[in-house]
Order: sequence, then C-alpha cells, then structure tokens
Amino acid sequence: AKSTRKPEPGDKLAFMLGPKEGQQIQPGDIEAGKEPTLAYPMDPQTGKALVAKANLLTVVRLKPEELQPASAKNAADGIVAFSSLCTHYGCPITTLHPSKTQIVCNCHGSIFDAANRGAVTQGPATRRLAMLPLAIQDGALVVAGKFDGPLGPPTS
Ligand code: FES
Repeated sequence: AKSTRKPEPGDKLAFMLGPKEGQQIQPGDIEAGKEPTLAYPMDPQTGKALVAKANLLTVVRLKPEELQPASAKNAADGIVAFSSLCTHYGCPITTLHPSKTQIVCNCHGSIFDAANRGAVTQGPATRRLAMLPLAIQDGALVVAGKFDGPLGPPTS
C-alpha cells in the first residue's frame, strides 16, 4: 500500500476523534483554555484525512499575548499545532497543563511549552515538539509549512 504523505502547505485539518471525526476543523472549533484537539492534516483535493501516526497533531489556541515570537510566527489567530508524538517514547500529547499555555504527555509527565515552540519545560523528554505552521486562508485553518523539527523520540 502507498504510504500516507506528509502534511503540505494548503492542507486543511480534520478531527481525529469525536462526533466530528474526519471532518474539517474550523478556527472557531479551537478555543483558548480548552483541552487540545487531536487532528490530522486533510488533503484539500480529496477531503480525506491523512491518517498516519507521524501526521498526528495536537492543536491548541492561546491568547495572542501569551504567544512568544517563536510560536507566534507559526500561529493562526492564536492557534498552534504540534506533532503529537512525545519526544520521550512517542505517546500522543493529549492534555492541557493548568497553565493553559503548556501541553502534557500523560505517559511519563513530560511538559512542553506551546507558547514557545514546544520547548521542554519538564522531562523526561529532552527534545522540543516539532511545530507545524498554520495560517487562516479564506476563513479556513490551513497548514502553512512543514514540521520545523524531527518527530517523536530520538532514534538510537
Ligand atoms: Fe511522553 Fe514518556 S512518552 S513522557
């Protein structure tokens, strides 16, 4: 079987889970202070989610004033997307930290700063999460670039 391609600029985003699974995510679906939304890129031609572990995204919205420049440049209206693969052992990143600006891996408690390009703020992970740049195009949330770093745990 042909492997699923990586996200590309112009892709939309689709819900991975829930009642809207596979449907397109609109900017208004992502609210500040809410638990992360897990998403896949969506091919704009076929309308199909690009389902692959390496494509899984953790999407949150921060308030504009919370975003540091390194995250702000990849944000769309405060919405930021990270590779969901924890850089420790690859668990999905699913939880918002009480700070509302950091995201947590529940496997072993690593914390990543969504306001600062996915930087590690608490281990055991040692490498930041890759960020996928977003933009708003004709009112839709779209991918605006490639992952800005390696995905998942370092390979030995
Ligand atoms: Fe995320 Fe270990 S896999 S902290």
